[in-house]
Amino acid sequence: MTQPKIVIRDLQKFFGEGKQQTQALKDIELAIQANEFITFVGASGCGKSTLLRIIGGLEQHNAGDVLVNGQAIQGAGIDRAMVFQHYSLYPWLGVRDNIRFCRRLQAHTDDCSQADVEAASGRTDALIRLMGLSAVEHAYPNQLSGGMQQRVAIARALMAKPDILLMDEPFGALDAQTREVMHDLIRHVFKLEKTTIIFVTHDVEEGIYLGNRVVLMAPRPGRIDSIYEVPLPAERHQDMKHSPEFLQLKRQILDRIRETSGMKTDFDLLQQLTNTSVPM
Ligand SMILES: Nc1ncnc2c1ncn2[C@@H]1O[C@H](COP(=O)(O)OP(=O)(O)O)[C@@H](O)[C@H]1O
Ligand SMILES: [Mg+2]
Repeated sequence: MTQPKIVIRDLQKFFGEGKQQTQALKDIELAIQANEFITFVGASGCGKSTLLRIIGGLEQHNAGDVLVNGQAIQGAGIDRAMVFQHYSLYPWLGVRDNIRFCRRLQAHTDDCSQADVEAASGRTDALIRLMGLSAVEHAYPNQLSGGMQQRVAIARALMAKPDILLMDEPFGALDAQTREVMHDLIRHVFKLEKTTIIFVTHDVEEGIYLGNRVVLMAPRPGRIDSIYEVPLPAERHQDMKHSPEFLQLKRQILDRIRETSGMKTDFDLLQQLTNTSVPM
């Protein structure tokens, strides 16, 4: 058995102090294999973003371990790249320069050989082609659609060949058609780049279509409720979203989200109210 890429053991995370304290993550246990595409779904506030930020080294945890390749993480690192819902591109740089721009590389310009510069340039070219950005490589971010801007952000995240790509609702601001295109694109990137992808979404359909496993989180306190293997082949097609296996898993996860988030109780209460006759 090979060593998992990421191991999370007994992870606890609190925000605030005293009576104001909330437990954002409780007893998180998970192993993620190299080249796995794992998705996290769950109601808002169940700790998905907090967990992703801890893995990315952007947030400290209170107890437990987060190991990457068997080593405890020490803050952020170029082995882990993040993509957020908001594209956060540099508005004064064109597409190509946005992709190339990497502060960590710049900080070491003195150590940078001509070969490094040429390799970076070759990788930029490859990423521009892979992400379908050739026609807009000299455009500025404000001249691009949301979908195009997100392609640039993903290309930039891939520039340093990260081992792990962490994505927090990256397609949340895109329209349905653009999201479909982005789903197929990201699966394609996953196949070619052989990264390990951790993808957070509140959209169950997106979580199933993209993932090899779907982790369902529940709120108050944020915890892992259940983990589902996705019964789809590695090559995904949009029409699989209508297959019986897909629809059954989607229903199962949606029902479980309702049960764990208190929405079912709200629904039962509503039913009771509807059944109670109101005196005139
Ligand atoms: N910086 C913060 N300060 C205080 N509470 C926070 C902070 N970030 C997140 N939380 C709380 O932690 C819980 C989990 O939040 P989050 O990870 O953003 O959930 P999700 O991404 O699943 O919507 C929520 O109750 C949220 O209010
Ligand atoms: Mg979030």
